[in-house]
Amino acid sequence: MATTRDHFGSRAAVIMAMAGSAIGLGNIWRFPYMVGEYGGAAFILVYILCSFILSFPIFLSEAVIGRGTHANAIGAMKQLAPRSGWMALGYLGVITPMVIVSYYSIVGGWSIEYFFKSFTLNFGEFRPTGWVPLIFNTIFLACSAGIVAFGVKDGIEKFNKISIPLLFVLIVLIMIYSVNMPGAEKGVEYLVKPDFSKLTGRTFAFALGQSFYSMSLGMGIVVTYSSYVHKDENLVASGVGTVLAALLFSILAGFAIMPAVFSAGIAPSSGPGLVYETLPHVFSGMGASYPIIGTIVAVLFFFSVVVAAMTSSISLIEVGVAFLVEEKGIKRRTACLLVFLLAWVLGIASVFSMNAFGKVDAFSSNFLLTAGVLLVVLFVGWKMKKEAVREEITNRGTVNNKIFDVFYFLVRYVAPIVVVIIFISNFVL
Ligand code: PFF
Repeated sequence: MATTRDHFGSRAAVIMAMAGSAIGLGNIWRFPYMVGEYGGAAFILVYILCSFILSFPIFLSEAVIGRGTHANAIGAMKQLAPRSGWMALGYLGVITPMVIVSYYSIVGGWSIEYFFKSFTLNFGEFRPTGWVPLIFNTIFLACSAGIVAFGVKDGIEKFNKISIPLLFVLIVLIMIYSVNMPGAEKGVEYLVKPDFSKLTGRTFAFALGQSFYSMSLGMGIVVTYSSYVHKDENLVASGVGTVLAALLFSILAGFAIMPAVFSAGIAPSSGPGLVYETLPHVFSGMGASYPIIGTIVAVLFFFSVVVAAMTSSISLIEVGVAFLVEEKGIKRRTACLLVFLLAWVLGIASVFSMNAFGKVDAFSSNFLLTAGVLLVVLFVGWKMKKEAVREEITNRGTVNNKIFDVFYFLVRYVAPIVVVIIFISNFVL
């Protein structure tokens, strides 16, 4: 393994890359709806708590594995627990992102198609499957793999450093417009009115699942990205920055989308229905009275969706590429081509059948992801030596000494119990 490894250039670059992976379709099409349906401000509160008490320590656990070994997800486990059952964690860390990117890029493809359609506001009926989605999926995947081919610093870092600030500016602009639309107050109310009676165990499980998915946990991403983080970088500080960026973006997306939906008098929804059916109606409605404004808002919105999806898909692709480069000695460009081809082939079923799409999504986001998260916390909390974990979190005793014990307690005791409950509830709910 004689490859010289790239590193992210600064803390800002680390946060932008991690936030790029975190901020994606999950924040745009699931979070706003969940907030409205599961208790408004009360849900947001639970979500923030889940993010800091559970997702954040799990994020740090993955960072300990990645930064501690400076290796890809499988290489890391080869160093830490060779030839043991824990290798499953490494394999899962490479397989899950491959499965996810196969359907995630299809959505990226729909978004490119809708970006072009926004210029005329002529969206037509939503056709999620077939040859046209296949073509746009191919374009989206090729662009994502193309960025990864440029490398960690010249590809991933550069793309995220431009995209993430841009995404924040765009979503704030759309939000300002949206909350000022006539009748927007109902949408704002939908998002903020606290309803504590909706906070059941089920809501809690959903909030946590969404938070894991949003933070890209349990799938080798944080392990791989952290492997490009310098030894003297403060992992806790980078982690806090990432959690805050993902949280803030989710909330802004909620206020950009729901007020506009309510203003158009349409019932809110989530998933593909929200982005590719409900919102096109909203934009066309705006366009009927002010064609230019409707077009501008739609173009900016779908552009943001494409970029947000791409900052996530490149992180998914990088996991497989890092594995091929470091473990199999394949050149980065060739590895990108191979991952592109594999993702493309894996996506064929989903691109032609929504049923397959739904199954792949549910299997990877409920089952594979939760299994990955569970293995990570068990590994870091119970298998790794406490001192080795402390070294990494505290940078050999120089930072974060006070919070280490809290982190360790959460990872060793709280997270495994909660994740087991979520795992079981995924089967029964
Ligand atoms: N976190 C991204 C989102 O919320 O859309 C999606 C995602 C990216 C999931 C990377 C998983 C992943 F590994």
